[in-house]
Amino acid sequence: DIPRYVKIVEVGPRDGLQNEKGIVPTSVKVNLIRKLVSSGLPVVEATSFVSPKWVPQLADARDVIEAVKNLEGAKLPVLTPNLKGFEAAVAAGAKEVAVFASASESFSKSNINCSIEESLSRYRAVTSSAKELSIPVRGYVSCIVGCPVEGSISPSKVAYVAKELHDMGCFEISLGDTIGVATPGTVIPMLEAVMAVVPVEKLAVHFHDTYGQALSNILISLQMGISTVDSSIAGLGGCPYAKGASGNVATEDVVYMLNGLGVKTNVDLSKLLPAGEYISKQLGRTSGSKTAQALSRV
Ligand code: HMG
Ligand code: MG
Repeated sequence: DIPRYVKIVEVGPRDGLQNEKGIVPTSVKVNLIRKLVSSGLPVVEATSFVSPKWVPQLADARDVIEAVKNLEGAKLPVLTPNLKGFEAAVAAGAKEVAVFASASESFSKSNINCSIEESLSRYRAVTSSAKELSIPVRGYVSCIVGCPVEGSISPSKVAYVAKELHDMGCFEISLGDTIGVATPGTVIPMLEAVMAVVPVEKLAVHFHDTYGQALSNILISLQMGISTVDSSIAGLGGCPYAKGASGNVATEDVVYMLNGLGVKTNVDLSKLLPAGEYISKQLGRTSGSKTAQALSRV
């Protein structure tokens, strides 16, 4: 039994581009977001209000948001690592934000330069300000089965961080396999532990495809009742602070699978494909989506 509708959260403009070495022009980011929105995607994560020293690629966050904030049809959340980022995001016109914690102490340190507990207290400040402004906050948990430094991560750690994010008011918790090491064998016990403390309707899954396991992991998650899936156009992605992390699962491939299962997404694959072609061409590489590759040969 799988959900009849799945909400796809497109993370390409943020997770996809954050790892790109060459600076992508703001106008290209804006065009990409427009194309993604017009394909019917309900949520397009647009950028991050993080330190430009840490992620130079997204230093133009304000300009990107100012250009897309009035687009209709999709929510356009942005990542905010602290109150400073949250305030800048709101000032630029962002109407939804996301905070990002980790289930691994070492990854927390390398990604956001603080401990897990310190990050949770920063995020409590963000969620309480957001509440006053009626701004919805999504919460991420990274390293849900594995960490580049610590190796395996126990399901109880993931459940702990997910519950803290839920308790502070995050409307949705996205469980991130940052380095793409999960298999259905590790996803099942992790989801069982998280679902024991956070309602399944509030959970999303976020798989990177390093070992080619992402679609299998998504399918098992759907079978366990998850109905929100993160993905990235053309399979772009990777985290600059997670060595070895490759791209996210490609949105085109997720839509192709869900179409095959008869699951509604409201995404029009024929409009999604040109968005992937556009950004692949701009970055000068072949698409990481097998569906896009196959359909471009037909
Ligand atoms: P820090 O160096 O510890 O920060 O970085 P600080 O508070 O000591 O401040 C240092 C400087 O940064 C100061 O400026 C601050 O004003 C500035 P200075 O006085 O030196 O000129 N600063 C900021 N500037 C702009 N925006 C801000 C901001 N905050 C401070 N928000 C910090 C700490 C969290 C800022 C930094 O580590 C950071 O930006 N990290 C972000 C890393 C990142 O974006 N990683 C990728 C996203 S997470 C991910 O990809 C995983 C995910 O996809 C899920 C999955 O796959 O698992 C979500
Ligand atoms: Mg990610």
